[in-house]
Amino acid sequence: MTQAEDDKRLFAPAAARNRGPILDVLREELPAKGLVLEIASGTGEHAAHFAAHLPGLVFQPTDRDERARESVAAWVAASGLENLRAPLALDATQTPWPIAKADAIICINMVHISPWESTESLFATAASMLPEGAPICLYGPYKRGGVHTAPSNEEFDVSLRATNPAWGVRDLETVVACAQKNGFSQPRIVEMPANNLTLVFRLRRAR
Ligand SMILES: C[S@@+](CC[C@H](N)C(=O)[O-])C[C@H]1O[C@@H](n2cnc3c(N)ncnc32)[C@H](O)[C@@H]1O
Repeated sequence: MTQAEDDKRLFAPAAARNRGPILDVLREELPAKGLVLEIASGTGEHAAHFAAHLPGLVFQPTDRDERARESVAAWVAASGLENLRAPLALDATQTPWPIAKADAIICINMVHISPWESTESLFATAASMLPEGAPICLYGPYKRGGVHTAPSNEEFDVSLRATNPAWGVRDLETVVACAQKNGFSQPRIVEMPANNLTLVFRLRRAR
């Protein structure tokens, strides 16, 4: 595809590969109707893809990074979709978030590429804005029992920590404990391509 110079859409090869498998899980887990809040939308490709395939839902993309939001806005414009909102500036660690309620939350590839405080705030704030039983869906690589699930994930972890010592592939058990501390269920764990997992937690205790 030739991209016009004023087209601010960014393209992430991984997003093009994983959006289909993630959509398959979301079809099973998201409600039929309502508002889906995406945290850390990045390029915006995921939100555009999911909105196109789940027309009963409205998607609200967000990111803390301005260049990412420009890309998301360009994807929104290119999609022409009525169920895909313009991106909002949202840093998971900065509360209150600029949106008060959602029916589901998705967060793809943020937990390992941000300080742990982002994940703590993600679950705490999600618990305050989701209805009982609503899902929060996370996607990314995780260690299990303190052990990497593949050599490629271990190499990725090393490169993440070299970039920022506060980043890194998290222990699944630590993420689950954080979720449960905030009132979420044990997750449904779905093994995904390229040694990633989708985790689906549901709110059990309204805060
Ligand atoms: C690796 S990218 C993933 C983007 C997209 N979800 C994907 O999988 O293609 C990580 C994204 O997390 C965002 N991010 C990092 N920390 C964040 C925070 N505390 N709150 C919101 N977004 C954050 C970054 O700006 C970046 O867009």
